Amino acid sequence: MAALLSCRLATDEDLEKAKEVADVANEAFLAEGWASARHFKRSERFLATDIENYITSDKHGIYMVLNEAQEVVGTLMVEFRDGGKVYMGILTTKPGWQSMGVGNMLMHKAISDTKALGYKTAEIAVVENRDQLFAWYNRLGFFETGHEQVIFGECFHNNRVRILTMEKQLTETA
Ligand SMILES: CC(C)(COP(=O)(O)OP(=O)(O)OC[C@H]1O[C@@H](n2cnc3c(N)ncnc32)[C@H](O)[C@@H]1OP(=O)(O)O)[C@@H](O)C(=O)NCCC(=O)NCCS
Repeated sequence: MAALLSCRLATDEDLEKAKEVADVANEAFLAEGWASARHFKRSERFLATDIENYITSDKHGIYMVLNEAQEVVGTLMVEFRDGGKVYMGILTTKPGWQSMGVGNMLMHKAISDTKALGYKTAEIAVVENRDQLFAWYNRLGFFETGHEQVIFGECFHNNRVRILTMEKQLTETA
Protein backbone atom coordinates (compact mmCIF):
# COMPACT_ATOMS: atom_id res chain seq x y z
CA MET A 1 0.00 0.00 0.00
CA ALA A 2 2.76 2.44 0.97
CA ALA A 3 4.25 2.29 -2.54
CA LEU A 4 1.09 3.93 -3.87
CA LEU A 5 1.33 6.79 -1.41
CA SER A 6 3.53 9.88 -1.38
CA CYS A 7 4.22 12.32 1.44
CA ARG A 8 5.31 15.91 1.05
CA LEU A 9 5.13 19.40 2.49
CA ALA A 10 2.35 21.52 0.98
CA THR A 11 3.41 24.62 -0.96
CA ASP A 12 1.48 27.69 -2.10
CA GLU A 13 0.54 25.68 -5.20
CA ASP A 14 -1.40 23.33 -2.92
CA LEU A 15 -3.65 26.02 -1.42
CA GLU A 16 -6.55 24.59 -3.41
CA LYS A 17 -6.17 21.43 -1.28
CA ALA A 18 -6.69 23.31 2.00
CA LYS A 19 -10.36 22.35 2.33
CA GLU A 20 -9.55 18.71 1.58
CA VAL A 21 -6.86 18.76 4.30
CA ALA A 22 -9.28 20.35 6.79
CA ASP A 23 -11.95 17.77 5.92
CA VAL A 24 -9.50 14.89 6.52
CA ALA A 25 -8.58 16.32 9.94
CA ASN A 26 -12.19 16.99 10.94
CA GLU A 27 -13.40 13.55 9.79
CA ALA A 28 -10.49 11.69 11.39
CA PHE A 29 -10.95 13.19 14.83
CA LEU A 30 -14.58 12.08 14.91
CA ALA A 31 -14.22 8.65 13.28
CA GLU A 32 -14.07 5.18 14.80
CA GLY A 33 -10.66 3.56 14.56
CA TRP A 34 -7.74 2.07 16.44
CA ALA A 35 -6.74 5.51 17.72
CA SER A 36 -10.13 7.15 17.74
CA ALA A 37 -10.66 10.50 19.44
CA ARG A 38 -14.45 10.11 19.64
CA HIS A 39 -14.42 9.43 23.36
CA PHE A 40 -13.18 12.95 24.12
CA LYS A 41 -14.06 14.99 21.00
CA ARG A 42 -17.58 15.78 19.95
CA SER A 43 -16.79 18.23 17.18
CA GLU A 44 -13.84 19.41 15.20
CA ARG A 45 -13.59 22.69 13.47
CA PHE A 46 -10.55 23.15 11.30
CA LEU A 47 -11.41 25.56 8.52
CA ALA A 48 -9.82 25.69 5.08
CA THR A 49 -8.53 29.15 6.02
CA ASP A 50 -6.70 27.68 9.05
CA ILE A 51 -4.88 25.26 6.76
CA GLU A 52 -4.16 28.00 4.18
CA ASN A 53 -2.60 30.09 6.94
CA TYR A 54 -0.40 27.17 8.04
CA ILE A 55 0.72 26.56 4.43
CA THR A 56 1.67 30.19 3.80
CA SER A 57 3.20 30.87 7.24
CA ASP A 58 7.00 30.82 7.66
CA LYS A 59 6.49 29.38 11.14
CA HIS A 60 4.33 26.42 10.10
CA GLY A 61 4.08 23.68 7.54
CA ILE A 62 1.45 21.18 6.43
CA TYR A 63 2.48 17.69 5.39
CA MET A 64 0.12 15.74 3.18
CA VAL A 65 0.00 12.07 2.26
CA LEU A 66 -1.50 11.71 -1.20
CA ASN A 67 -2.85 8.56 -2.81
CA GLU A 68 -2.43 7.59 -6.45
CA ALA A 69 -5.35 9.83 -7.41
CA GLN A 70 -3.60 12.73 -5.59
CA GLU A 71 -6.31 12.80 -2.93
CA VAL A 72 -5.29 13.79 0.59
CA VAL A 73 -5.45 10.75 2.90
CA GLY A 74 -3.42 12.08 5.82
CA THR A 75 -2.02 15.29 7.22
CA LEU A 76 0.29 16.69 9.89
CA MET A 77 1.02 20.27 10.92
CA VAL A 78 4.46 21.36 12.09
CA GLU A 79 5.10 24.56 14.03
CA PHE A 80 8.66 25.87 14.13
CA ARG A 81 9.28 27.27 17.60
CA ASP A 82 12.19 29.06 19.23
CA GLY A 83 14.96 27.14 20.95
CA GLY A 84 15.34 24.48 18.28
CA LYS A 85 11.92 23.00 18.98
CA VAL A 86 9.29 21.87 16.49
CA TYR A 87 5.71 21.11 17.55
CA MET A 88 3.79 18.47 15.60
CA GLY A 89 -0.01 18.50 15.64
CA ILE A 90 -3.21 17.76 13.68
CA LEU A 91 -1.82 14.29 12.94
CA THR A 92 -4.73 12.62 11.17
CA THR A 93 -5.37 9.82 8.71
CA LYS A 94 -8.55 9.81 6.66
CA PRO A 95 -11.05 7.20 7.88
CA GLY A 96 -10.76 4.16 5.62
CA TRP A 97 -7.00 4.70 5.23
CA GLN A 98 -6.00 4.06 8.84
CA SER A 99 -3.68 1.20 9.90
CA MET A 100 -2.03 1.30 6.44
CA GLY A 101 1.10 3.23 7.33
CA VAL A 102 -0.10 6.77 6.56
CA GLY A 103 0.51 8.07 10.10
CA ASN A 104 3.96 6.54 10.09
CA MET A 105 4.81 8.16 6.74
CA LEU A 106 3.82 11.55 8.10
CA MET A 107 5.75 11.23 11.36
CA HIS A 108 8.90 9.78 9.78
CA LYS A 109 8.95 12.46 7.04
CA ALA A 110 8.40 15.32 9.51
CA ILE A 111 11.02 13.94 11.91
CA SER A 112 13.57 13.43 9.15
CA ASP A 113 12.98 16.86 7.56
CA THR A 114 13.04 18.85 10.80
CA LYS A 115 16.12 16.98 11.99
CA ALA A 116 17.84 17.86 8.70
CA LEU A 117 16.87 21.51 9.26
CA GLY A 118 18.73 21.43 12.59
CA TYR A 119 15.82 21.24 15.02
CA LYS A 120 16.80 19.51 18.24
CA THR A 121 13.48 18.55 19.83
CA ALA A 122 10.09 17.47 18.50
CA GLU A 123 7.06 17.97 20.75
CA ILE A 124 3.58 16.48 20.57
CA ALA A 125 0.53 16.80 22.84
CA VAL A 126 -1.53 13.69 23.57
CA VAL A 127 -4.81 13.31 25.44
CA GLU A 128 -4.46 11.04 28.49
CA ASN A 129 -5.51 7.38 28.50
CA ARG A 130 -4.77 6.68 24.83
CA ASP A 131 -2.54 3.70 25.54
CA GLN A 132 -2.03 2.38 22.00
CA LEU A 133 -1.22 5.86 20.77
CA PHE A 134 1.28 6.44 23.58
CA ALA A 135 2.85 3.05 22.78
CA TRP A 136 3.34 4.03 19.13
CA TYR A 137 4.81 7.42 20.04
CA ASN A 138 7.19 5.61 22.44
CA ARG A 139 8.29 3.38 19.55
CA LEU A 140 8.93 6.53 17.51
CA GLY A 141 11.16 7.81 20.31
CA PHE A 142 8.75 10.23 22.03
CA PHE A 143 8.57 10.16 25.83
CA GLU A 144 6.45 11.99 28.38
CA THR A 145 8.02 15.17 29.74
CA GLY A 146 5.86 15.31 32.89
CA HIS A 147 4.23 18.50 31.64
CA GLU A 148 0.45 18.37 31.43
CA GLN A 149 -2.38 20.82 31.05
CA VAL A 150 -6.16 20.85 31.08
CA ILE A 151 -7.73 22.39 27.99
CA PHE A 152 -11.27 23.66 28.07
CA GLY A 153 -13.58 23.84 25.06
CA GLU A 154 -17.05 22.99 23.84
CA CYS A 155 -15.59 20.60 21.29
CA PHE A 156 -14.70 18.20 24.14
CA HIS A 157 -17.06 15.93 26.02
CA ASN A 158 -17.24 17.33 29.59
CA ASN A 159 -15.86 20.54 28.02
CA ARG A 160 -12.33 19.62 29.09
CA VAL A 161 -9.45 17.22 28.44
CA ARG A 162 -6.12 16.56 30.11
CA ILE A 163 -3.22 16.69 27.67
CA LEU A 164 0.25 15.31 28.25
CA THR A 165 3.36 16.59 26.49
CA MET A 166 5.75 14.15 24.82
CA GLU A 167 9.14 14.95 23.32
CA LYS A 168 11.65 13.27 21.06
CA GLN A 169 15.28 14.31 20.89
CA LEU A 170 16.01 14.68 17.19
CA THR A 171 19.71 14.26 17.85
CA GLU A 172 19.06 10.56 18.57
CA THR A 173 18.65 7.87 15.94
CA ALA A 174 15.31 6.04 15.31
C1 LIG B 1 -3.45 8.44 15.07
C2 LIG B 1 -3.59 8.23 13.57
C3 LIG B 1 -3.10 9.47 12.84
C4 LIG B 1 -2.72 7.02 13.18
O1 LIG B 1 -2.67 6.93 11.78
P1 LIG B 1 -2.57 5.53 10.99
O2 LIG B 1 -2.42 5.90 9.56
O3 LIG B 1 -3.71 4.66 11.37
O4 LIG B 1 -1.20 4.94 11.57
P2 LIG B 1 -0.27 3.81 10.92
O5 LIG B 1 -1.06 2.84 10.09
O6 LIG B 1 0.87 4.49 10.25
O7 LIG B 1 0.24 3.06 12.22
C5 LIG B 1 1.03 3.76 13.16
C6 LIG B 1 1.44 2.80 14.25
O8 LIG B 1 0.29 2.30 14.91
C7 LIG B 1 0.24 0.89 14.83
N1 LIG B 1 -1.14 0.49 14.60
C8 LIG B 1 -1.82 0.55 13.44
N2 LIG B 1 -3.04 0.03 13.61
C9 LIG B 1 -3.11 -0.38 14.90
C10 LIG B 1 -4.12 -1.01 15.68
N3 LIG B 1 -5.30 -1.37 15.14
N4 LIG B 1 -3.86 -1.26 16.99
C11 LIG B 1 -2.68 -0.92 17.54
N5 LIG B 1 -1.68 -0.32 16.85
C12 LIG B 1 -1.90 -0.07 15.54
C13 LIG B 1 1.12 0.53 13.67
O9 LIG B 1 1.66 -0.79 13.82
C14 LIG B 1 2.19 1.60 13.72
O10 LIG B 1 3.18 1.30 14.69
P3 LIG B 1 4.61 0.65 14.26
O11 LIG B 1 5.12 1.43 13.10
O12 LIG B 1 5.47 0.80 15.47
O13 LIG B 1 4.32 -0.78 13.90
C15 LIG B 1 -5.08 7.94 13.17
O14 LIG B 1 -5.54 6.84 13.89
C16 LIG B 1 -6.03 9.10 13.41
O15 LIG B 1 -6.24 9.91 12.51
N6 LIG B 1 -6.65 9.18 14.63
C17 LIG B 1 -7.59 10.26 14.97
C18 LIG B 1 -6.89 11.60 15.16
C19 LIG B 1 -5.91 11.57 16.32
O16 LIG B 1 -6.26 11.21 17.42
N7 LIG B 1 -4.64 11.95 16.03
C20 LIG B 1 -3.57 11.93 17.03
C21 LIG B 1 -3.55 13.17 17.83
S1 LIG B 1 -2.29 13.08 19.13
